[in-house]
Amino acid sequence: MATARSRARSNMALVKYWGKRDDRLVLPFTGSLSMTLDALTTETEVTFTGAPGSDELLLDGAPAQGGEVKRATELLNLVRAEKPGLGAAKVQSRNSFPTAGGLASSASGFAALAAAAAWAAGLDLPTEQLSILARRASGSACRSLFGGFVEWVRGERPDGTDSVARPVLPADAWDVAMAIAIVDTGRKKDSSRDAMKQSVLTSPYFDAWVKTTTADLEDARAAVLARDLERLGAIAERSFLKMHATAITSDPPAIFWKGPTLELIARVRELREAGTGAWATIDAGPHVAVLCRRADVGKVAQALRQISGVRDVVETRPGPGVERL
Ligand code: DP6
Repeated sequence: MATARSRARSNMALVKYWGKRDDRLVLPFTGSLSMTLDALTTETEVTFTGAPGSDELLLDGAPAQGGEVKRATELLNLVRAEKPGLGAAKVQSRNSFPTAGGLASSASGFAALAAAAAWAAGLDLPTEQLSILARRASGSACRSLFGGFVEWVRGERPDGTDSVARPVLPADAWDVAMAIAIVDTGRKKDSSRDAMKQSVLTSPYFDAWVKTTTADLEDARAAVLARDLERLGAIAERSFLKMHATAITSDPPAIFWKGPTLELIARVRELREAGTGAWATIDAGPHVAVLCRRADVGKVAQALRQISGVRDVVETRPGPGVERL
């Protein structure tokens, strides 16, 4: 029996990842850049039993669904390939936030799983290598291995060994924050995996997305290093709008926005016009994350709460990378 525990946090992309050039290895068409979110954590314990059998996965105390178990087992198989004899794994994972609330837990979940599994196996891998393991389960998870502002480098090699996450700026180096407005949906989130695949295959705008994202990424990295929030915020807004434009123009279309989503986008613009620096970004769902100065986050959250259809607003600052518990 070999056990290890980890804690990892979710992340929010400011320059989005949308589209794979290799589905099996999870290699993106473009690089992306995110902020690791202090408030959204997953703690995971992995035990390799040494005996053959199927893996067991408990999420917040309940047995996980088929798709999640399959992705976890595929990740665990990569670890088992490095160290024969580990056997079936028992995995227990807990989120600090309700997954049913609509916030993505796959990034923190697979980052925590990759690290705990490698550590339980006794593999002494650099964090960049852990990011490759997490990437194989879910692309955005690779960025959660590091804290603060993180770039997922696209890489060039067909085997994906250079498609890794790298830290850009540590969590405590910049006093920014995010307020995330959770929009009531009443139904399960559409799969970002399927929607992005459809965008690659059918959106007439996908080429333009790839062409312009490389420049957005360079610009965003420079803005983070210069701690220029206004510049970063403007890039983040154009990145999510372009990503959603490819989704909306896919066949069949993927429209993630609800009524309150548009109200929130308008409210963020009003805040800005009234002098409060606030910039929106949206993943493959209806929720709106708003980047702002740390001193403004209470005020921004308050403004978002006033929109009808907003169930909750989570305030968070940049958080650290994966931790061994
Ligand atoms: C919109 O990482 O969930 O959140 O690699 O297929 O697991 P898979 O996709 P996933 O997609 C994230 C898409 C996004 C943008 C981002 O996080 O960069």
